[in-house]
Amino acid sequence: MDNNPAMKTLDSAVEKYGGKKEALLSIMHEIQKAQGSISEDSARYLSQKLDIPVSQVFSAATFYRAFSTEPRGKHHIKVCTGTSCYLRASEKIFERIGRELNIAGEGASEDGEFSVEKVRCMGCCNAGPVMAIDEQICEDVSAGKIPDLPKQEIIGEMTHRKATTVIKKYREDK
Ligand code: FES
Repeated sequence: MDNNPAMKTLDSAVEKYGGKKEALLSIMHEIQKAQGSISEDSARYLSQKLDIPVSQVFSAATFYRAFSTEPRGKHHIKVCTGTSCYLRASEKIFERIGRELNIAGEGASEDGEFSVEKVRCMGCCNAGPVMAIDEQICEDVSAGKIPDLPKQEIIGEMTHRKATTVIKKYREDK
């Protein structure tokens, strides 16, 4: 057993599933939840522990949406940049969120509270442009409907109740 806390997380996830290679995805879910991503080091460690090719771990980490190879914030925001949403200016939404949360491009805020990424079609083009906060879909979003966080404004009609709560709490904690 390794004393490094990150490796301890990996070891406990592997042990929880009896070190079975068939449980790779379940093990990866545990790690994603605990560490916010499947890092390259984690993938290599898992490969050794489970005696499977590292390419198999990387493939799963990049193929399934539930996993991320980059660190995620406590609240993860996905902005759809599929064709339909793109044509309705979803890039502007992405940029606006980045400005509001001080995140350059895709990635996480410095305090680890939020992360943002662009995703392909989320399967609800008619409601677009869409984004999701913690898997809760926000429909008919526009950059103008995203508030300036420091202004203590209610986020507005574009959001799902959950999104409002999350961002309001973020403002209050600042
Ligand atoms: S393109 Fe955005 S939901 Fe389909």
